Amino acid sequence: MSKTIIVSNRLPISLQHKNGKFEFKPSAGGLATGLGSIYKEGENIWIGWPGNDVEDEGQRKEVVDELKKLKMAPVFLTKKDVELYYEGFSNETIWPAFHYFTQHINYEDEYWDAYWNVNKKFCDAILAKASDSDTIWVHDYQLLLLPMMLREKLPNATIAFFQHIPFPSYEIMRMLPWRKQMLEGMVGADLIGFHTYDDMRHFLSAVGRILGLSNESGFIQADNRLVNVDAFPMGIDYEKFEKAALSPKTKNHVKKFKQTLGDQKLLITIDRLDYSKGIPNRIKVFEKLLDENPKYRGKVSMIMVVVPSRDQVQSYQTLKEEIDTLVGHINSKFSTLNWVPIHYFYRSFPFNELSAFYSMSDIALVTPLRDGMNLVCKEFVASKTDKKGVLILSEMAGASKELVDAILVNPNDQEGVTSAIVEALSMDEEEQELRITSMQASLKKYDIFQWVKVFMDRLQFVKEKQADLE
Ligand code: UDP
Ligand code: G6P
Repeated sequence: MSKTIIVSNRLPISLQHKNGKFEFKPSAGGLATGLGSIYKEGENIWIGWPGNDVEDEGQRKEVVDELKKLKMAPVFLTKKDVELYYEGFSNETIWPAFHYFTQHINYEDEYWDAYWNVNKKFCDAILAKASDSDTIWVHDYQLLLLPMMLREKLPNATIAFFQHIPFPSYEIMRMLPWRKQMLEGMVGADLIGFHTYDDMRHFLSAVGRILGLSNESGFIQADNRLVNVDAFPMGIDYEKFEKAALSPKTKNHVKKFKQTLGDQKLLITIDRLDYSKGIPNRIKVFEKLLDENPKYRGKVSMIMVVVPSRDQVQSYQTLKEEIDTLVGHINSKFSTLNWVPIHYFYRSFPFNELSAFYSMSDIALVTPLRDGMNLVCKEFVASKTDKKGVLILSEMAGASKELVDAILVNPNDQEGVTSAIVEALSMDEEEQELRITSMQASLKKYDIFQWVKVFMDRLQFVKEKQADLE
């Protein structure tokens, strides 16, 4: 029987070492939370890195057995792999380049070699489980070379690739010395998906100019094989967030949190610690708001959740220090004995507490400088079961193409974002309801299950089209 194998660098659960033992914790980040709802069907399996090093053979076996029960299989990485492939090429080369942070790009041949080797490691791990009749769905920028590596070994397999981060303009892509191999790796897939039409267009332009492959309505011919490229905006498990918001567990958290915070307007911001998320800009805007509008002091607070991420990478460490300083500055400037402007948490939260934050907040401030999709804004909208609340959303997030009833802002425009907060704070309930209802309708319709279905149906269509051409 054929099965679907999902492959991503990070598994949806991460291994943590605790007092000489290990335990699993849910992984944060859009890829893991988004696909977490769908991989358990049938014979399917998810292959990826368990998020920590395990060197002892006995412990490795234990991890394999534990993960097997959860329909997952690990690819173990060494400390060196993590340093050069994960922190290095993935997060110091591709991540900054693809998010337009060219000042953070590190060009290291050593990183590239490790990237190739680890993609090969993933390929071998998959080959141990896969056959030519399986569907292999590879996810994200850490594994760009994998589709072609797999294609060489399993020429007839159904291979798909989805990229969860932006795909940059050709002008950025051409800066990378390994651009050709990266694109060749991707076109090993039968179907290549991006979140937005712009990402898709950038990819097709790079493939045209760097590989010399032209396209016709998103179809390219690579080695006499038809490859389709398209945009598939990812949804969320809408019902899960709606149900959680209505659950007694979430409601108890809301009650408890509200008792502590008192009667205030709440702005929520939730991100991994990442320079692409625009966290310092947002803090500066909040300071501007309080500077210019003394009437909001004591009346409006921001709950800022920053989830630790990639903390061995220098640019992330510097960002952490910058955020700490900015929060310290604004809190020491405006706090009173019974009010602080920013409630700052540098950690992750259990699901029902996140759900409580979403449902009790009046405004979500989602202002990344660049973001492939951004699921946080979608989760906020889905959690608004009473239809009250306002979403302020950056034009630079993929989600802005769908959530047009949010207040859309340019995150670099401090004046514009400040006015958006003022507008949100004074928006009447009728308008809030209209906007939330309309966004909820589209999120409900294009949820994560629909996303998987549309993607898989297209994959089948491409395979049929290839067969017709043979
Ligand atoms: N998230 C989480 N734990 C937390 C805070 C956030 O699991 O304590 C989740 C959040 O619910 C969302 C994901 O992390 O699903 C972030 O995804 P998003 O697409 O917004 O950004 P990414 O981290 O993928 O860049
Ligand atoms: C984004 C990426 C994912 C990644 C996640 C968390 O969502 O698209 O591929 O897993 O961030 O980052 P991390 O480096 O912790 O896996």
